[in-house]
Amino acid sequence: MKKDTAISTKAVYAGEKRVNAEHTLTTPIFQTSTYTFENTADLTDFMEARLWGEAGERHEYARYGNPTVHAAEQKIAALEGAGDTCLFSSGMAAITSTLMTLLSAGKHIIFTDDSYRRTRELVESHLKRFGVESTCVPMGDFAALEAAIQPNTAVIFSESPTNPYLRVLDLEKLVAIAKPHGIKTVIDSTFATPINQRPLEFGVDVVIHSATKYLGGHNDVMAGAVCGSEYLIAAIRQAQGVFGAVCDPHAAYLLLRGMKTLSLRVHRQNDTARRLAEFLQGHPAIKNVYYPALPSHPDHAVATAQMTGFGGVVSFELDTDFAGAGDFIDRLEIPFIAPSLGGVESLVEQVALVSYFELSTEERAALGIADSLVRLAVGIEEASEIIADVARALDHVFGTTTLATENGFIVMSRP
Ligand SMILES: Cc1ncc(COP(=O)(O)O)c(C=O)c1O
Repeated sequence: MKKDTAISTKAVYAGEKRVNAEHTLTTPIFQTSTYTFENTADLTDFMEARLWGEAGERHEYARYGNPTVHAAEQKIAALEGAGDTCLFSSGMAAITSTLMTLLSAGKHIIFTDDSYRRTRELVESHLKRFGVESTCVPMGDFAALEAAIQPNTAVIFSESPTNPYLRVLDLEKLVAIAKPHGIKTVIDSTFATPINQRPLEFGVDVVIHSATKYLGGHNDVMAGAVCGSEYLIAAIRQAQGVFGAVCDPHAAYLLLRGMKTLSLRVHRQNDTARRLAEFLQGHPAIKNVYYPALPSHPDHAVATAQMTGFGGVVSFELDTDFAGAGDFIDRLEIPFIAPSLGGVESLVEQVALVSYFELSTEERAALGIADSLVRLAVGIEEASEIIADVARALDHVFGTTTLATENGFIVMSRP
């Protein structure tokens, strides 16, 4: 497929064969744990070819490769503009395996706050046990990031956009700081998708996705993807053959199928999230709205320069307490109450409840998480119906009255 093919066309065709076994249009699910050899000479030929790195797509055992998984990997690589992609059984498996490959005892990793909690736990609790040092710096504070660099710093890791505040990292600045020190940059681009942002084009070394989210897109599959140069991915793939967190062929098939509509879905989700954020911004019951398309967002300028869309997640703080936020969520009729994001169904969560339940209000506040913070990940439903649903729930909890007009929604406060 030509490099300059539109990303929506790549999403449909890239990675998949034009002619499949039995002339099936779709890529088959190669459900096998091992591969056979005709005779000893065939096996010897394979072993020799593998020794010289020339075995291609021929495999001996499914922990080292699978044709359905390979097709999904090549589709993601085409979308991200990567030399290669390696798929894993989950986003966390992708992150763990990447960091275990790039780091070793005595090395140091810098990561930004406002990151997925399990990533932070991996670095600060588990990698630490193997002698990896770490420094957490505030997102967007490049002075702190530069000051944190040590002679043994090997990796800088950040999400962009982040969860739940949708902070966007200036990738050009990041690369300019890291490159002279020979530090590898790793961006978890799950919230962006390659439709909205392609960090490798800015010189970032590795891009990670929880493919469970937008890439799969239907809330029915777990997978993780690591994208980068052929050289780096070869090292990560080699480690995967030992660590073992491989992607199942059925999961890879669901990913292939899901990604065909990635561009359609993400554009729809971008549009709905923006409209929802604009509606919330003017609502008297909302204290803060976090969405990078809004000029009030701290990273609006960077996001506008670096991204082609702002994603399908909107976070907002209600003018109420922990119980009030729960009351609002319980009144919603469209979104499911569930962790995760990126699928066709809208999902809503009270961040304090889902991710920080064991902490007190004060402890959460110290981490910058308000009790009334809500994260709504929009699906592909009709935008006006999602907004009307949110408006109805707000009206119920806050006593406002929302009128739907031809030009949008008008909210009236209680007199
Ligand atoms: C930004 C981000 N990265 C990584 C992960 C982990 O992915 P998975 O749940 O597929 O292991 C998540 C999960 O929520 C996430 O939100």
